[in-house]
Amino acid sequence: MERTLVLIKPDGVRRSLVGEVISRIESKGYSIVGVRMMNADRSILEHHYAEHQGKPFYEPLLEFMSSGPIVALIAEGNRVIEGFRSLAGATDPTVAAPGTIRGDLARDQGTKVVQNIVHGSDSVESATREIAIFFPEGM
Ligand code: RTP
Ligand code: MG
Repeated sequence: MERTLVLIKPDGVRRSLVGEVISRIESKGYSIVGVRMMNADRSILEHHYAEHQGKPFYEPLLEFMSSGPIVALIAEGNRVIEGFRSLAGATDPTVAAPGTIRGDLARDQGTKVVQNIVHGSDSVESATREIAIFFPEGM
């Protein structure tokens, strides 16, 4: 069964949207099979966002992602990687479609990096890699 890593980012936790995000995942029919609340330290974020190193938003992104607690989730189901990306919507919340998590719950706040409530793995390889980062003890 396919699995994906979902992160509820500090903006989502600050705005008490943990239940809302989990509810949308479960209502779609996926199972939550792992959950962990944590303060992500720099080394874990460097590892997770290695693909973005050197981009202009990299430092602001790491700063934002360490600005408060996050919730890491493992969601499971057929095609859940693609399905959760669809639930999340486009990266930029201003243009993310209404009905999606980002489209319904986020907007441009004028910050140095886009704050968009959730992360979702973008491939089987990313999901495997990212789940191992946030759930090193296994699930
Ligand atoms: P995610 O990895 O968080 O699920 O988001 P994504 O695939 O839709 O977007 P990605 O390109 O992987 O970017 C990761 C996160 O970096 C921030 N970002 N800011 N131009 C910008 O200011 C910019 N571009 C990306 C967002 O928080 C994005 O989710
Ligand atoms: Mg991404």
